[in-house]
Amino acid sequence: MMKALNPPITTWTGKRVWLIGASSGIGAALAESLLTAGASVVLSARRAEQLTTIAAPHSTAYVVPFDVTETEAWPLALAQVLEHLGHIDLVVLGAARYDPTHSWTIDLEQAEKSFDLNVVSVYRGLSVIVPHLLEQGCGGVSLIASISGYTGLPRALIYGATKAALQNLCETLYFELAPKGLAVYLINPGFVQTPMTSGNDFPMPGLLTPQQAAQAIMRGFERGHFEIRFPKAFSFTLRLISMLPDRLRFALLHQTTGM
Ligand SMILES: NC(=O)c1ccc[n+]([C@@H]2O[C@H](COP(=O)([O-])OP(=O)(O)OC[C@H]3O[C@@H](n4cnc5c(N)ncnc54)[C@H](OP(=O)(O)O)[C@@H]3O)[C@@H](O)[C@H]2O)c1
Repeated sequence: MMKALNPPITTWTGKRVWLIGASSGIGAALAESLLTAGASVVLSARRAEQLTTIAAPHSTAYVVPFDVTETEAWPLALAQVLEHLGHIDLVVLGAARYDPTHSWTIDLEQAEKSFDLNVVSVYRGLSVIVPHLLEQGCGGVSLIASISGYTGLPRALIYGATKAALQNLCETLYFELAPKGLAVYLINPGFVQTPMTSGNDFPMPGLLTPQQAAQAIMRGFERGHFEIRFPKAFSFTLRLISMLPDRLRFALLHQTTGM
């Protein structure tokens, strides 16, 4: 059997996790799963009230609300996280927005805001987190991208491009940080029923609940995968389609998306 790309996480008991984008959807469900499994978790996002409600039943949950688009907020947030946890085993960067956009309805303000939140804020976070993890000499960082980053898709003119950027960025992170002893995970979800997708007016194949998504993410960490993608069949199919010759790929996507 081939060795896992990251060290498998064999127990969550005592693991210290910083979860960014934890106030709803996948992040909130992942927080619940990690806390139930025995981890200590700092929950971050802008909405402090939601974070506090999720954290309330758990003695090992802490709340550090902040806006990830504010560069100066990151070092302060890291300092608060360290006050709570003392050490960081894993950071999950999941804050994002999705503005459905076609090629003929480009809104520049949305494009700027999406890239600023979905991509630039990841760099903001990495610029403070990576030096800290390197100084610790251990720990891991995971980015939540999307299977929509595999190939151009209708309505995903902005969102898909931000997620493709994260996929590329995460590969470079793995190349550079794995040899230095850090774990790097690329999380590529398919459709998950969350506030982000609640306005979608088209069929969402393989739609998962946030709890199912959280379980898939936990399994990926436990197995030491680099890419954690789900649901299996739909994500594999889209990955396969993305590797087909252009003519075939576009024809298949036109046919399957009806666009
Ligand atoms: N749902 C899907 O089908 C799907 C598919 C593929 C990938 N994903 C990815 O999965 C991740 C979670 O998405 P979700 O579906 O769970 O959506 P969601 O429920 O809308 O969660 C988005 C999270 O990002 C946080 N956030 C947004 N702007 C922020 C800011 N400026 N500063 C700090 N936090 C901010 C939100 O919290 P506040 O509003 O409280 O700040 C919220 O916790 C995202 O990266 C998304 O792109 C989702």
